[in-house]
Amino acid sequence: MNLVIRKLTESDVEPLAAIEARSFSMPWSAKDFSDLLKRDYCLYLVAEVDGRVVGCLGMTDICHEGNIDNVVVDEDWRGKGIAWQMMQELFVRGARRGVEAYTLEVRISNQPAIRLYEKAGFVSEGIRPNFYEKPTEDAVIMWKRLQTDENV
Ligand SMILES: CC(C)(COP(=O)(O)OP(=O)(O)OC[C@H]1O[C@@H](n2cnc3c(N)ncnc32)[C@H](O)[C@@H]1OP(=O)(O)O)[C@@H](O)C(=O)NCCC(=O)NCCS
Repeated sequence: MNLVIRKLTESDVEPLAAIEARSFSMPWSAKDFSDLLKRDYCLYLVAEVDGRVVGCLGMTDICHEGNIDNVVVDEDWRGKGIAWQMMQELFVRGARRGVEAYTLEVRISNQPAIRLYEKAGFVSEGIRPNFYEKPTEDAVIMWKRLQTDENV
């Protein structure tokens, strides 16, 4: 598998919107992705296999806290370590920006995602009741707080 992980560009927004539509009940649109490109406090990575966009992972970096607000891998490409690789790359690039902690919300029933985050060092710190729609569901709030020396 020839996997490349790189920053989001305008040419990725349509394929990513298609992956979103296949993956989520409330998918992001191409415009949602396009708008991210104008915000320098957002860092979005794309996974490409043999030139084809297969997923993305991104965060909003506010005051050195990285809020991971989208992670998706197209269905046929799941279970191959792609989300894991994107996350490792995000941590490398986040460290360069001085990110000291990462946080995210995840549907309480989404075991694949929760396992991914736990493997990456996130821990559950609370529940946001009824946070999600379509269907209504609680969110688990997870954090990964870095030691200062991990961030040098
Ligand atoms: C969650 C998601 C991004 C994982 O992507 P992926 O590329 O398949 O994940 P990886 O292959 O990198 O797996 C990394 C780790 O995640 C966990 N994991 C991934 N898929 C899993 C599954 N089906 N069951 C249990 N654990 C799973 C495992 O810990 C895995 O490590 P391991 O292979 O050593 O066991 C993918 O399933 C997806 O796109 N789901 C739909 C969108 C979504 O729910 N996004 C998260 C929103 S919060």
